[in-house]
Amino acid sequence: MLEQKKSMKIVLLGYMGSGKSSVGENLATVLKADFLDLDFLIESAENDTINNIFSKKGEIYFRKKENTILKTTLKGRDNFVLATGGGTPCYGNIIDFLKNKSNILTIYLKCSLETLTKRLFEEKTKRPLISHLTEKEQLNDFIRKHLFERSFYYTQADITINCDDATIDEIVQKIILKLF
Ligand code: S3P
Repeated sequence: MLEQKKSMKIVLLGYMGSGKSSVGENLATVLKADFLDLDFLIESAENDTINNIFSKKGEIYFRKKENTILKTTLKGRDNFVLATGGGTPCYGNIIDFLKNKSNILTIYLKCSLETLTKRLFEEKTKRPLISHLTEKEQLNDFIRKHLFERSFYYTQADITINCDDATIDEIVQKIILKLF
């Protein structure tokens, strides 16, 4: 599948906590490509954390920045694996933009509600959309609804990888098998 692509631009999609950054970093190493993290690029451009951007300037501001920085990165760089934020493909025209470019390959890292709830309960403080949810049950309810809405976008990816019960290395291997 990758040989058909003129240049390697791999974009990882998936809900918060699905492992986009850890998988992306490893996949980039294996493919000898650069690893890029959209949240990090936004933080660098704004010189502030995602939490602060949300609280000081609001989510709409964040989504506009996310849209612009994603498109600039996709146009200006080559040979990379990019980890997006969980909401990236779900706003504006992003999913169509990604699908209409023949040299961009999108990969959805799919995790179950149970896996995401377990992981995100431990890692919610850096995530403004869920940091206020104190009970595991509340978090589970939130993710269930949110994931249901977002799945419409995630499932439009070129490749879907089931990530439950798999280590980072195993997920990278599953991706490599689909690529070549
Ligand atoms: C978001 C996910 C976050 C970050 C922001 C919004 C979302 O990225 O972009 O907090 O809307 O799902 P991660 O998926 O890396 O946590």
